[in-house]
Amino acid sequence: MNPDDPQNLGEMSGADAVGTAGSSDCGDMLRMWIKFRDDGGRKVIDKATFQSFGCQTAIAVASIATEMIKGKTPEEALALSGSELSAPLGPLPPMKIHCAQLVEGALKNALTGAAPEPTAPSAPSAPTLVDSFQPQKKVIIKLHT
Ligand code: FES
Repeated sequence: MNPDDPQNLGEMSGADAVGTAGSSDCGDMLRMWIKFRDDGGRKVIDKATFQSFGCQTAIAVASIATEMIKGKTPEEALALSGSELSAPLGPLPPMKIHCAQLVEGALKNALTGAAPEPTAPSAPSAPTLVDSFQPQKKVIIKLHT
């Protein structure tokens, strides 16, 4: 995979599953869409896409992961750890391990519907990752002098 040319980038219309995860380490977020197909009576992952407000490592791991899980059953994909998903990149430095865990979290959230941990997005059912970030209400504090 060319890190400058991530695969499967973008939201997927008609996805069967969507999962989002946020990292408490850096505040980055990643969302993954999954489409299943029938493979001789087995439900397998046909394709997956992702969007990320994350670093290049998270994008690279998500790109790899969306290719790696094609043809796997949900159970097989759920068994993949962040380190397995990032293995083609080689060992990650300690400060980047959470980037692969962010991808793992979005994948697991998509496949199980479990709440992402530990920093859930404010609107996990929003249609796009951008929509998850709602504008904050302005708070005006009056100071008494
Ligand atoms: Fe946080 Fe990579 S630095 S996801």
